[in-house]
Amino acid sequence: MKYAVIYLSETGNTEELAKHIYVCLPGNDKTITDAEKTDELPEAEFYFVGFPVKNRLCSIKIMSILEQLGNVKVALFASCGLPANNKYMKYIENAVSPWINDETDYKGLFLCQGKGSEKFREILEVQTGYQPEEINRIMEMAAEHPDDDDIDKLYEFVDSMIE
Ligand SMILES: Cc1cc2nc3c(=O)[nH]c(=O)nc-3n(C[C@H](O)[C@H](O)[C@H](O)COP(=O)(O)O)c2cc1C
Repeated sequence: MKYAVIYLSETGNTEELAKHIYVCLPGNDKTITDAEKTDELPEAEFYFVGFPVKNRLCSIKIMSILEQLGNVKVALFASCGLPANNKYMKYIENAVSPWINDETDYKGLFLCQGKGSEKFREILEVQTGYQPEEINRIMEMAAEHPDDDDIDKLYEFVDSMIE
């Protein structure tokens, strides 16, 4: 297999990105896997691994997948509740990087905001010092994503990864 898209998604945002990546990848030698449904990794030359940001990191399952992927190309994609600026993208990339196998030809991370769930709102209320107005602002902004602009950027990202 040339390309494998593997993802986790609780509320659908990362799944939406995964499906767009799958469609955008050229040819038919590709597969898409919901990592929640199987522990078996497909064989591929290039893996796109996606996750929702949780507590500024990925889940243990994604860490384990990244550790297993040696001697192949890997690109990451993720959705998050906070605004996905460049600084936050770098932060998440640095946080996840210890689990990227040293033998991996690592290509980069795509990050965009995704609709926040009530669970995410609770986290903002309990774990941050944000005022209610700020929390409402973040939730309203997140509710618009992923938007068309995010998907355009995702397509550009995929193109730049595989050229
Ligand atoms: C338990 C929990 C923890 C989260 N932690 C973060 C976080 O640290 N940073 C962030 O930007 N978003 C955080 N989020 C928001 C999710 O990353 C965001 O809603 C994401 O788009 C969900 O993706 P999914 O729809 O694929 O599950 C958290 C959400 C939950 C439920």
